[in-house]
Amino acid sequence: MQIDLRESWFIDDVEVPTRLVLAPMAGVSVQAFRRQGRRFGAGLVCSEMVSCAGIEHRNEKTLGYLRVASDEHPLAIQIFGSSPAAMAEAARMVEAAGADLVDVNFGCPVRKVTKTGAGATLLDDPQLACRIVSAVAAAVDVPVSVKMRRGLRDGSRACLEIGPRLVEAGACALTLHPRSAQQMYTGSADHGLTAELVSLVDVPVIASGDVTSRARAQAVLATTGAAAVMVGRGAQGNPWALREIVDGDGAEPTREEVVAELVLFIRETVRELGERRASGFLKKFYGWYLGRGRFPRPFKQELVVLDSTAEVERRLIAAAPGSLPLIEQLAAELPAGDEVTLGLPISAYGGG
Ligand SMILES: Cc1cc2nc3c(=O)[nH]c(=O)nc-3n(C[C@H](O)[C@H](O)[C@H](O)COP(=O)(O)O)c2cc1C
Repeated sequence: MQIDLRESWFIDDVEVPTRLVLAPMAGVSVQAFRRQGRRFGAGLVCSEMVSCAGIEHRNEKTLGYLRVASDEHPLAIQIFGSSPAAMAEAARMVEAAGADLVDVNFGCPVRKVTKTGAGATLLDDPQLACRIVSAVAAAVDVPVSVKMRRGLRDGSRACLEIGPRLVEAGACALTLHPRSAQQMYTGSADHGLTAELVSLVDVPVIASGDVTSRARAQAVLATTGAAAVMVGRGAQGNPWALREIVDGDGAEPTREEVVAELVLFIRETVRELGERRASGFLKKFYGWYLGRGRFPRPFKQELVVLDSTAEVERRLIAAAPGSLPLIEQLAAELPAGDEVTLGLPISAYGGG
C-alpha cells in the first residue's frame, strides 16, 4: 500500500503539510537551503543547531542563525546546551525570532559539543535532559521537540528509556536518528528502534537516517508508524530528491534547472551571510550540485578557485545559458524584505 506523503499531520497545534522533514545540518541548513526545501515538498524545515551560550552572549554570528523568512513556516529552530536556564532563555529568543517550534539537540556526537555536556552526552543523563526539556517547554508557548540518537555507545537502547521521559517533561515530538554517537555516520540507521519508540510514546515520531528515496521513505513509514521521515544528506545539492520522495516525480533535473537552483542558492546565501563568508561556505555545494554526473568533474574544480561568487554565477550561466529565464522566474517568486529581525543591527545577519 502506498502512503500519501502529502498528508498533513500535527505537532501539538502546528500543522505540518507533508510527511517529509528537512534535517537540521550544521554548515548546510542556511535559510536558502530551508526555503528551497519547502519549495520542493518538505513540510517542516529546521535550522542548524544554535548554541544557547552564543545566544546568551549575543554573539553576532549565532544571532544570524535566528533569521526567519515568511516562506519558511513551519520552521523549527534547534538549540543546544547543557544548562536548563540558559536553554530556556535561548528558547525565548528563538520564539521571538518567529520559530514555530523549538527543537532541542540531544544527538550531536561531535566532540566540540559533547565535551561541554551538550548534544548526545545528555542521553547518558536523563534527569538533566528532562530538566532541560521542562525548562524550555515552560519558557515558550510554541511546541518543543527533541532530536536524539539511539544512545552514546554502539548497541545502546537509551533512546527508548529516555524518549517517554522527555515526552512527560514536555516534548511534543521526538526525532530519532537511530545510530549511536560513537557510530557517527558509519553503519546504518536501525529503524527497528524507531518502531519501538513509536510504540512507547503518544506524540509524533520523526524517523531520521538513510532516507534517500521514495521507496525507502515508504518502507520506513510503513514499518515504524512514524509520523514523518527526515532527509538530510540526500538533499544536499539535490532538492529534486525531496520531490521524488514526496510526489514520486523522479525526473532528473536538466542542466538548466541545476544551474538555476544553484545560482539562486548562491544569491540567497550571499544575502544571508555576506560575500566573504558565503564564498567559502558555498564551495562544498558546487560539488554537491554539479556532481551526480550532471557536469564534468573539472567544471567544479574551475568554480572553487574563482575569486567571487559573481564570477561563479557568470561561469555557471555561460555553461547553461538557457537557465536565465528559470533564474528570473525563481527570483520573482521569492518573497523579499519580510524577515523578522529582532530589532538587531543588520550586521548580526551577515549580508544584510
Ligand atoms: C553535515 C551535517 C550536519 C549535521 N548537523 C546537525 C545538527 O546541527 N543538528 C542535528 O540535530 N543533526 C545534525 N545532523 C544530523 C542530521 O540531521 C541527520 O539526523 C543525519 O544526517 C541522518 O540523516 P541522513 O541519513 O538523511 O543524512 C547533521 C548531519 C550532517 C551530515
